[in-house]
Amino acid sequence: MAKKSDGKKLRYAFIGAGGIAGAHMSYLAKMPDVELVALADVNEASMARHAETYKIPKANCFTDYKQMLAKIGPEAVSVCTPNGLHAPNTIAALNAGAAVLVEKPLAMNAKEGQAMLDAAKKNNQKLVIGFQYRFGPNSTFLRKAVAAGKFGEIMYTKCQALRRRGIPNWGVFGRKDLQGGGPMIDIGVHILEVAHFVMGSPKPVSASGNTWTYMGDKKSDVASMWPNWDHKTYTVEDLAVGQIRFENGAILSIESSFVAHIEKDIFNFSLMGQKSGANWDPAQIYTDDNGYMLNSTPGFLPSGPAADHFAAKMRNFVDHVLHGKPTLAPAEHGLMVQKMLDGIYASAKSGGEVSIA
Ligand SMILES: NC(=O)c1ccc[n+]([C@@H]2O[C@H](COP(=O)([O-])OP(=O)(O)OC[C@H]3O[C@@H](n4cnc5c(N)ncnc54)[C@H](O)[C@@H]3O)[C@@H](O)[C@H]2O)c1
Repeated sequence: MAKKSDGKKLRYAFIGAGGIAGAHMSYLAKMPDVELVALADVNEASMARHAETYKIPKANCFTDYKQMLAKIGPEAVSVCTPNGLHAPNTIAALNAGAAVLVEKPLAMNAKEGQAMLDAAKKNNQKLVIGFQYRFGPNSTFLRKAVAAGKFGEIMYTKCQALRRRGIPNWGVFGRKDLQGGGPMIDIGVHILEVAHFVMGSPKPVSASGNTWTYMGDKKSDVASMWPNWDHKTYTVEDLAVGQIRFENGAILSIESSFVAHIEKDIFNFSLMGQKSGANWDPAQIYTDDNGYMLNSTPGFLPSGPAADHFAAKMRNFVDHVLHGKPTLAPAEHGLMVQKMLDGIYASAKSGGEVSIA
């Protein structure tokens, strides 16, 4: 059971203390109302590095996350393990009485995701998905415009998360058994979540798509940012393309690749509404006014630390848990996004359009 703090500091622990966990910790460590109490990771060296940086006692570092939960009883846990562990780690933490911020994607598939939401409900605990892009100023600007009806009916959203040569050469990002998929579930998920959020989180009803593997499973001597990835264990797609149909008739298309033959990397989406259209990055709205076609760019958007979407994601989670502030990234949104990912992968397998329940 979670041990209550003195009401001043949230007792916060980690399951998975690798790369992204370090980002979480860097923000949490600066918050006066958070205390980093424990870590759990099978990689002792990685855990020790973070423990030293953030002054977490060695006795509170565990190679078995279940022991950490039982002995420490944290009030909040970040789950930052490979995707295949998100469901068991999250469910165990919720059952142990902690609120959970689980990194994206929610899980390997929607079935696991639903079990996580059920565990949160059963334990009356908070479960948040680690989507950060919705916290950025561009996203807020566009979301407000959509909510104010500036676009009319949104008919179409085009999403792209494309790297020219960027297969991660660390972690297990090429392992389908541990990650559930490749670029679509790893980086496509980011642009999908923010575009879907800006659209107003419509309900997906069907998906179609395809995936291809043509490079990741082979040795490459081409110079690149992250050379020498583990091609021998690479079992995920290199390129995935999908289309989602929503209950309100809108269509979203998405392209995601670790290794696309394109001029340069793209991470962006655009909207087409009946009254206006928009681009996300840079944020711009295209409309007609008073007999002219206008391109509207905000005269000011926060930048620098004030625009740090990751900082805002971490603060929003702590405020949600400690002070009951609404979360901008409920697990339900993670589940909807997961259903879209599942649908694209299922369609790639079946060769036809699949429905989303
Ligand atoms: N929000 C973002 O922008 C973002 C960015 C990167 C990664 N992520 C997500 O975060 C998760 C982790 O990615 P990463 O880049 O930090 O990977 P990573 O490989 O750097 O870290 C994962 C950690 O989990 C540990 N681990 C593996 N099995 C474990 C177990 N049984 N118990 C405890 N720990 C275990 C590993 O030893 C490793 O330290 C993934 O789901 C990824 O999709 C999110």
